[in-house]
Amino acid sequence: MGGLLIRGGTLALPGGVTLGDVLIEGEVITHVGAGIARAEAAQVVDAAGLLVLPGLIDPHVHLREPGGTHKEDLTSGTAAALAGGFTAVLAMPNTSPPLTDRETFAQAARRVEEKALCDVGLFAGATADNSAEVATLREAVGLKLYMGSSTGNLLVDKLEDQLAHFGTYPRELPLAVHAEDAEAVTWFESHSRGRPVLCAALGLARALSLAGHYRRRLHVCHVTTGRELALIRAAREMGVRVTCEATPHHLFLATADAERLGPLGRVNPPLRSPADAAALRAGLREVDCIATDHAPHTLEEKRGPHPPAGLPGLETALPLLLTAVARRDLSLREVTRLMAEGPARVFGLAHKGRIAPGCDGDIVLVDPAAKWIIGERAFLTRCGWSPFAGQEVQGRVERVFVRGRLAYDEGRVLLPPGSGRLLRPTTHTAATTAAAPAPNIDP
Ligand code: DOR
Ligand code: ZN
Ligand code: ZN
Repeated sequence: MGGLLIRGGTLALPGGVTLGDVLIEGEVITHVGAGIARAEAAQVVDAAGLLVLPGLIDPHVHLREPGGTHKEDLTSGTAAALAGGFTAVLAMPNTSPPLTDRETFAQAARRVEEKALCDVGLFAGATADNSAEVATLREAVGLKLYMGSSTGNLLVDKLEDQLAHFGTYPRELPLAVHAEDAEAVTWFESHSRGRPVLCAALGLARALSLAGHYRRRLHVCHVTTGRELALIRAAREMGVRVTCEATPHHLFLATADAERLGPLGRVNPPLRSPADAAALRAGLREVDCIATDHAPHTLEEKRGPHPPAGLPGLETALPLLLTAVARRDLSLREVTRLMAEGPARVFGLAHKGRIAPGCDGDIVLVDPAAKWIIGERAFLTRCGWSPFAGQEVQGRVERVFVRGRLAYDEGRVLLPPGSGRLLRPTTHTAATTAAAPAPNIDP
């Protein structure tokens, strides 16, 4: 039968990096190895000199649809994903309206099937009074809970409502937190002190305590400092089931960049000191995923009187990480762990994130030697800018295959809207909607 043979590339496999071939038949990888017979394939792609990576998975993006499509929509956002080497993204629910009930979620799911170019999973959003309803939204990849306010109006800052969600959402599914403490944020912002690390540390300590109390899974969004990693380490040692992610902007930008960029560098949680960014880089082995937190706003909004927080990141994350690999600060193995295997494991996407027989034929071909300047190739995100513009990087996405189909080729998107699918978690079969266990009585 037909099939697509990607030949002679440097394969980033779960077991290590090796020269070899990948055969995709239909939508699925069927063979991985050296010297797969050419006769088995109808189409051969020569990958000599290229890296062959598993399709990347971004577990944290804001695609702005519905309600913010002047910034981004499901088609432009997934085009940016493809340009960045992502074949799957998990979208946050702080849209307008937010995805907080069965109806808004079902509508967003339909739009994904109509408009997406790569696969998209959707988070449900927690509110003060929807803990029973979101706990039964089994198509969601997780629940997002904002402990402190950020863009949009999703906020669950009262202990009573946090207890309801931590206690009711299925224990085996990821409850993802924006862990900046609401009271601390309000106090520091009203004293013009921004959002110091203490806001994140207080929010995180609370989230970890709640997760331990209910013996449930927790996923911590955008960890920014070594201090947060130390809290997570301590919680893990106590048996708390916690995973976490870090963003490229917190790894590679810092306070001096925030000053240089002005409103374009404004983001929640904010850019930290160079020492914090260095500690985050040094602690990457304790991090489960890189997440871009792609949060596009237009230049007009960013330069207006009330610049919203958030930065686009889909098109720059992989080149920035590959540049760290070229500098020998990071291994290629770590890049695929953080950008493909890790997100697949955390969010229960068993058929994604690896180049292995049985997995989806999601493949990225990268020229590891290509040096280029961010911004010289037009951005596909509708917002059209990047906080990394002007920076030289090494490593360029050449082609992207989604489930065996060529979706992106050197700047051009080749598949129509609707080629992407709604991603549903597949491996949380042990997850249960059973009532939460009786809370620990220990404080
Ligand atoms: O800076 C941010 N922007 N932080 C968030 O938590 C939300 C995001 C957005 O949606 O713009
Ligand atoms: Zn957040
Ligand atoms: Zn976010």
